[in-house]
Amino acid sequence: MYGRSSTENYLSLDYTGMMQTQHNPKGFTQESLVHLQPLLKQARSALLIQREEGRLDFSKLLPRMQSELTGIIEYADWAAQNFDNFVVLGIGGSALGPMAVQQALNHYYYNELPAVKRHHRPRLYVLDNVDPVRLRDLLETINLKRTLFNIISKSGNTSETMAQFLIVRDLLQQECEEEFAANIVVTTDPEKGNLLPLALKENYHRFAIPPGIGGRFSELTPVGLLPAAMCGIDVKAFLQGALEMDAWVQEEQGLFDNPAQIRAALSYLSWQDGKNISVFMPYSDALKTMADWYAQLWAESLGKRYNRQGQEVRLGQTPVKALGVTDQHSQIQLYTEGPDDKTITFVTVEEFAADVNIPADPIAPQDIAFLGGHTLGELMQAEQQATEYALTLAGRMHQKIILPNVNARLLGQLLLLLEWETAYMGELLNINAFDQPGVEEGKLATYALMGKNGYEQKRKDILAAGEKHFHLSYPRLEN
Ligand code: PA5
Repeated sequence: MYGRSSTENYLSLDYTGMMQTQHNPKGFTQESLVHLQPLLKQARSALLIQREEGRLDFSKLLPRMQSELTGIIEYADWAAQNFDNFVVLGIGGSALGPMAVQQALNHYYYNELPAVKRHHRPRLYVLDNVDPVRLRDLLETINLKRTLFNIISKSGNTSETMAQFLIVRDLLQQECEEEFAANIVVTTDPEKGNLLPLALKENYHRFAIPPGIGGRFSELTPVGLLPAAMCGIDVKAFLQGALEMDAWVQEEQGLFDNPAQIRAALSYLSWQDGKNISVFMPYSDALKTMADWYAQLWAESLGKRYNRQGQEVRLGQTPVKALGVTDQHSQIQLYTEGPDDKTITFVTVEEFAADVNIPADPIAPQDIAFLGGHTLGELMQAEQQATEYALTLAGRMHQKIILPNVNARLLGQLLLLLEWETAYMGELLNINAFDQPGVEEGKLATYALMGKNGYEQKRKDILAAGEKHFHLSYPRLEN
């Protein structure tokens, strides 16, 4: 096996499915990895310099986040006694982390549980879209007075989040009159943006997103720590795990000992080999939303038009979210027999938080009787192993991140590993992994369409560009 075998307290990697073996002649050789070592050494030095200069604050500020935990936990404990619901208003990096962590670490049907089973912590809703029907449905579900709204926006300029905020503020004012500010807590940049002055003026409780940390790298800041603390998640262990992975990635210099380097190196080699798609496939429902978080991290960080020298390069690898075993009955056919343009990362769990026996029932027809006496956890693991085997036979690239179980500490490790891997991959590709210029045009166009001052010409251009020249409807419209 290629990789580090697991211990109870650390995640581990198995990348045998990416390497050349007797069963997988098309895999990479050790030499091809060794060839990358000078480039990785360079990447490491560049990243460590960036870390010192404050551009890698997702790693550098972890100890500071630890010292801020007390304030977050105290506020969360107070709020949990005063509110039944906690609603996050945010999008992208301000929403995907909180959703992923909640799904991973709390009961699958947490919101449906009675308060006592939630340890009297509030229900969590994350509104990461501006679909009016969803907002209406939420407002019909919750008691406004008993709801705390967490407005999360680093920039304070995001139309979606700010629109939700204006709606909610207005409703709260009607419902709670001058007391309404207590139902709002803001997580934003401590120095700039539109939310900050409003929060100061109206006296909302406020948490800071450190300026050097971009949205998709911000889960280990109050962006993610506050929602997690609200829902009773062990945020200390979560941060401890992140610090452990951070130390591992920084201490180990050698490619074969450093989990972020080896994963980035394999991603880079496979990208060079025409694998333009990166599938993230946890075999655990608890980790399903982690795939959404990963998809944003990989897509927004690495999908770039220009390299650092300003040359047009149009790079990136398309992330695909999948869930084992569900997507074995949906996507695996394509992965085994379709174009050879993907690598697949499985995330496996050695010990599930619960397991269920499959009864050895004499009524079972002979064809399915073999299932009896096993557990669902065993079935899940067998299916994962079987898929791995089928992919190997088909000559398809795959690797595994192995979690001994799903807990806060290991989840912190997983998030930091993927963040560091993305940073390394950005270096290997020679692009800036921390900006997102391609999202900006759409944001500006939205301002124009919604009538923001100064965007009048843009609005005209957009309307002209949007004229329908090719259109199909039924019954057919006569000219
Ligand atoms: O990763 C990112 O930077 C983005 O996805 C942002 O998080 C997203 O656009 C929301 O931005 P903001 O937090 O400024 O409202």
